[in-house]
Amino acid sequence: MTSGPTEVERNPTIDKILNRSSTKKFADTPVSREQLELVLTAAVRAPDHGLLAPWRFTVLEGERRTLLGNAMAAALREKSPDSDREALDREASKAMRSPTLLVVSAVAQSHPKVPEIEQWVAVGAAIQNLWIAAESLGLGVAWKTGSHAYSSLVKHALGLSSDERIIGFIHLGAPMSKGPVRPADVTSRTRWL
Ligand SMILES: Cc1cc2nc3c(=O)[nH]c(=O)nc-3n(C[C@H](O)[C@H](O)[C@H](O)COP(=O)(O)O)c2cc1C
Repeated sequence: MTSGPTEVERNPTIDKILNRSSTKKFADTPVSREQLELVLTAAVRAPDHGLLAPWRFTVLEGERRTLLGNAMAAALREKSPDSDREALDREASKAMRSPTLLVVSAVAQSHPKVPEIEQWVAVGAAIQNLWIAAESLGLGVAWKTGSHAYSSLVKHALGLSSDERIIGFIHLGAPMSKGPVRPADVTSRTRWL
């Protein structure tokens, strides 16, 4: 028998991961409850040191999205009081970009063995699980943060606690246009010792 590198067969999972990209434009078609529950279940299957389940999900659909949109406009007004109506409306409309919005937040606790950073990255892993699961169901995804992710006004409007951190505003819905699959540069970021 000869030894040496074996052929790695491509399969749907690896193809989904290698072809992931952000969705730029979403159709209005609602995401079904079943699809949402499945992607959320995929999210919480992420690795989780200490099994602390640091992730929290706030689901906004339909008119409820204006809760976030209005808060984002108010946060803009607070930051830039000179913003005109058009700028405020544009800010509010960002929450309406997709039929479903998941605000993914994290609550880190003080733990003797699990530093906070490990709890934040577990939530990042959960979002990535959610993303791949959503794309495998034919949904598009976009991950946004911007200054609103760090605004207490926005957190308050969403009913998040003061010790909760927003990790991402995750847009979900049927994709109408997606960004390009960017080149995967492993070489310049990898040392083989
Ligand atoms: C923590 C985090 C925050 C992000 N915040 C934003 C954002 O505020 N606005 C935005 O357009 N994209 C945001 N993105 C998405 C990246 O810009 C996007 O993934 C990147 O441009 C590469 O494109 P791709 O996802 O199509 O490969 C964020 C991604 C991460 C991981």
